Amino acid sequence: MSLIDGKAIAKEIEAEVATFVASLEGRKPGLAFVLVGQNPASRTYINAKKKSCARVGILSFDREFPETIIQTQLIREIELLNQNSQVDAILIQQPLPSHLHVGNIMSCVSVHKDVDGFHPYNVGCLLLGEKGLIPCTPRGIQYLLETSNIPVAGKHVIIVGRSNIVGKPLAALLMQKHPGCNATVTVAHSRTENLKTLCLTADILVAATGHPHLITKDMVKKGAAVIDVGINRVEGRIVGDVDFHSVSAVASHITPVPGGVGPMTIAMLLSNTILCYKHHIKVG
Ligand SMILES: NC(=O)c1ccc[n+]([C@@H]2O[C@H](COP(=O)([O-])OP(=O)(O)OC[C@H]3O[C@@H](n4cnc5c(N)ncnc54)[C@H](OP(=O)(O)O)[C@@H]3O)[C@@H](O)[C@H]2O)c1
Repeated sequence: MSLIDGKAIAKEIEAEVATFVASLEGRKPGLAFVLVGQNPASRTYINAKKKSCARVGILSFDREFPETIIQTQLIREIELLNQNSQVDAILIQQPLPSHLHVGNIMSCVSVHKDVDGFHPYNVGCLLLGEKGLIPCTPRGIQYLLETSNIPVAGKHVIIVGRSNIVGKPLAALLMQKHPGCNATVTVAHSRTENLKTLCLTADILVAATGHPHLITKDMVKKGAAVIDVGINRVEGRIVGDVDFHSVSAVASHITPVPGGVGPMTIAMLLSNTILCYKHHIKVG
């Protein structure tokens, strides 16, 4: 079994971004973080992302709003960020309070500053195989597969989880007629029948459910690559959606939690910020 060291691969991407930023003579890239409410997990994620930005020289702009902010006011604030010439990229930290409509909020972010690739325009580009901003976690997973020399073309990838931020965009990405993609993709979810039998047919099994240790050894074909997206807190520890210990015995490759997909998500956030910056500079 080969351990996929997401932390090490993410560090390489971070170093490339840092080199690029250091080479800039003028304005440095800027990423705005929009946080609504006081969700402790959201704050932890934002702090980790801001630390990474600081390490590579990307400027962070904090925009924090109370839980009670109304949709029109939040949209106004996003429009100000769209017009702000120092801000190249905008991240709306999810989850948002339930009175805010995520789709409507994401639609207000400039498509060229949409660092998470959640704007319907970028979602459409991904589906159509057109150039656009690709969500960070799926992009990170595809990169992990590619750099770990795990064949994807023609292989059966099963993604357990159909969220808009992981499962659906990852399926759209891996099925593209592009190098490093061309997979045959199946997406499973909580209503899928015979999940175990289905998972046993996967050459690459991706778990993105938020259900600790859902994937056990008896669900994994010998020699399959297993990518664990889950981040779950259990008895004070962070664990994934995969029972790492037992699955390691059958998988050819496996990502650890922590230290697998998580650092790649942040690395791709930095990389997407640079893409937004380059576009912003180009169009003035
Ligand atoms: N490492 C990272 O960078 C990163 C990034 C994003 C998310 N995450 C983590 O990844 C996990 C998933 O996040 P998410 O935002 O995609 O979650 P989500 O929006 O809650 O979606 C979970 C998906 O898993 C499915 N599911 C839940 N229980 C299942 C079960 N027992 N069998 C089969 N499918 C099941 C759900 O099915 P239904 O659609 O039928 O409800 C849903 O499609 C979480 O632990 C999250 O913290 C990690």
